[in-house]
Parts: sequence; structure tokens; C-alpha cells
Amino acid sequence: MKYLSIFLLFIAILHVSIVASSTESETCSSGTAGACNSKTSPILDSPSEQLFSGYVTLYEQVQMLRDNIRMKAYYSAIMLNKEVFRDKVVLDVGAGSGILSLWAAQAGAKKVYAVEFTDMAKHARKVIDAHGMSNIVEVIQGEAADLKLTEKVDILISEWMGMFLLRESMLDVVLKARDMWLKPEGLMFPSHATMYLGAVIDEEGREENKQNSFDAYMEEWEDFEKNIKKFYNADYEVLKAAYEEESRVFSVTGQWVQLEKEHIVGKPVIVKEFDLHKCTLEDAKGVPPTPFEIVFDAKELPVTVSAYAGWFTVDFNGTDATPLPNPVQLSTHPDQGPQHWAQTVSYLKEALHNAIQKKMIGVFEMIRQPQNWRLYDVKISSQFGAWESPKVSNHTFSIKSFSQ
Ligand SMILES: C[S@@+](CC[C@H](N)C(=O)[O-])C[C@H]1O[C@@H](n2cnc3c(N)ncnc32)[C@H](O)[C@@H]1O
Repeated sequence: MKYLSIFLLFIAILHVSIVASSTESETCSSGTAGACNSKTSPILDSPSEQLFSGYVTLYEQVQMLRDNIRMKAYYSAIMLNKEVFRDKVVLDVGAGSGILSLWAAQAGAKKVYAVEFTDMAKHARKVIDAHGMSNIVEVIQGEAADLKLTEKVDILISEWMGMFLLRESMLDVVLKARDMWLKPEGLMFPSHATMYLGAVIDEEGREENKQNSFDAYMEEWEDFEKNIKKFYNADYEVLKAAYEEESRVFSVTGQWVQLEKEHIVGKPVIVKEFDLHKCTLEDAKGVPPTPFEIVFDAKELPVTVSAYAGWFTVDFNGTDATPLPNPVQLSTHPDQGPQHWAQTVSYLKEALHNAIQKKMIGVFEMIRQPQNWRLYDVKISSQFGAWESPKVSNHTFSIKSFSQ
């Protein structure tokens, strides 16, 4: 029995390595369009592997398909601007289950290329077939960077936004596809994106967050320290203070939180704007140090700031030369209600209190993590006013990683 299990395990490993190497050496598909995996194989790259492993499940795709705010925005952007799609060639980057491609075809596109890396492409094909649209929508399974088309496209559509807009770094994929395949006068759907920073009052959330994660980390340490002494004759107490410090940093990680609109205090500020027809890969790297001023209404004073929150909007406006007849906006502001992006919230170690000053001034920066280019770190330094012995706060957090 034992040998049978070892044999089966050996066969399984052999199978996995054959599958992996055949994926690597696969050649570009022929026909009007195709993609080859040989160059960029994102599945072999760990941050991408983490990303794609989520998107391959129908569960994850359905979470997006059930987000009415997202669905309504994309549906309206396409269906209220049908004349823009009529007889056009469209590229859907990261097609998932095929919904945007289906809508583009229903709006009158003459050809839609739907590129999707994961096996979700097979489901997308079924959805397209079920709607009798396979003569218009061509689903191409592969990495968008390796796409081979025989023609340029009039419209590039994609739902690429991650937490606080940039997490996942799918914007890079979209910009590369734009530069390769969009006609010079072509249209991006969406056309603009804006990142917002807001101050949050939520002392309950701050306390809960601090206690939960920090206490849990420390309880684990106590357990570990006791056991390593008892079973392995090693004393790790000397590292406890360092572990404690490290855990305090972890407990202020930027997280997925669905805020209520009452949690936002002061006027949120824009920290970055993207014109998706013109922005570059350099822009997608993050936000360089950017000064900001959050202004509070006199009625809000005295105010307590428990956390910072980040969210975004995207707009479907077209270009100056070809404005859309009916512009549409998708907003992830807390006043929109529940949605799958929610807000990215980072609770402060110590709340900031302010009785009299109407402005919080500061500098915001967002940079790509060197160890995982799909994730970002945020640094915010701020103070209430520049007078009367200002209280300076320096706050750094990483945007929730894929496994958290
Ligand atoms: C946020 S989902 C959107 C899915 C679908 N367009 C929708 O709106 O429901 C992004 C999709 O892009 C795919 N994707 C991400 N990077 C890709 C790449 N480099 N090449 C091809 N597909 C990619 C993911 O697998 C995922 O299915």
C-alpha cells in the first residue's frame, strides 16, 4: 500500500512537471489572433501565480459579477454609448468570464478579442457560445503581453483596478496592450482614473484592529517561546522585543474595510490622476511624494483621526477628440455602499486629535514593493497645521497582501 502511494505520488509529480514544461514551450496559436506563453509565463512568477490562482476560480469571478456598482457602471458605459461600439473592433484585456466582451458584442461591435490568461477563458467561451456570439467574440487564452493580432483595435476595454486602484499592477498589462494594439485615435474604457485619500474616524475599528492582530501575534509568540524551551532546549526570549516591534508594524497593514460614509472626516483629497490614453508604465509604478491638505469643516472640530483610507474612481469619458455621448463614472467612495473593492484602510497606532485647526497637511507616497511588484507600500506623514507646536505623525503601511 505504502509503495503504491509512493508510485502514485511519483506519477503525479511527473504529470505536474510535464504540464508545466509543455505550458512553457507552447508556441503561439495560429489563426487571426493568438497568444504564446513561452516568453512571459506569468504562472512561473510567484506574485503573478498568487494573483492568477484567485482569478481561476468561478467563486472569485462571481464576486466581481455580483458587484452591482461595478456591473452597472461598465454596462451603462457600453450600452449608453452603443454608437461608439457599432462596427468597431474591440480588445477586452483580462476577459475573465467574458462579460465585457459579451456586452461589447451586444452593443454592435463587429469583432471582439477577449484575452484571458487563466482557464476562466474556457468558461468565457461557453458564455459567449450560449449567447450565439462566437462569430464576433474570439476568446484567446494567454498572457496579454504575448497577444498576436492581425489588426489594430478601435476600443480597449478592461476591468483592471485593484485595491486603492493600483494593487495587482494590472494597469501595466493594460498599458502595454494599449501601446501595442490601440489605434492612435482609439478609445480606452475606462478613460480616466483618480486615487483619493481620506481621513477616517473609527476609534472602535482602530482598537479592535490593534488588539486583534497584535494580541494574536504575541499569544503565538508566548506559545512558541514556551515550547522551544521545553522541547528543544533553546531560549528565544532575547528576540521577543524585536518580534513585538515587527508585529506592531504588521498590525497597521492597510486592509480591506467597508466604511460607512460617516467614517470620513474632512474633505478627501486627490493624490493621483491618470489619463489612460496618455499615462505611461512609469506612472503605474506608484505615486511620488505628493503634498496634500485635508480640510475640516468647522462643524467637525474637535476631530479625531483614527485611520487613513484610500479609494478610487474611474471615468468613461472618451477623449477630447471623441467625447462619449454619455459619460459614466464608477466610484468606490464609502457613500456608494458595499462593493467588492471596499476601501483600503490603515489604522493609526495612536489617533490624532485636533481641536482647533482646520487643516491636516502632509505628504503621501506610494511605492511598489521591491519583493513583490504587484503590491505597494504607502507612506504618509502629516500634521495638523504648521503652527502652535504641530504634532507630526509618520505612518507607513503595506496594502494587504494576497494571502492575508
Ligand atoms: C478583475 S478581473 C476582470 C474580469 C472580467 N473582465 C470582468 O469584468 O468580470 C481581471 C482578469 O484579468 C485576467 N488577467 C490579469 N492579468 C492578465 C494578463 N497579463 N493576461 C491575460 N489576462 C490577465 C485575470 O485572470 C482576471 O480574470
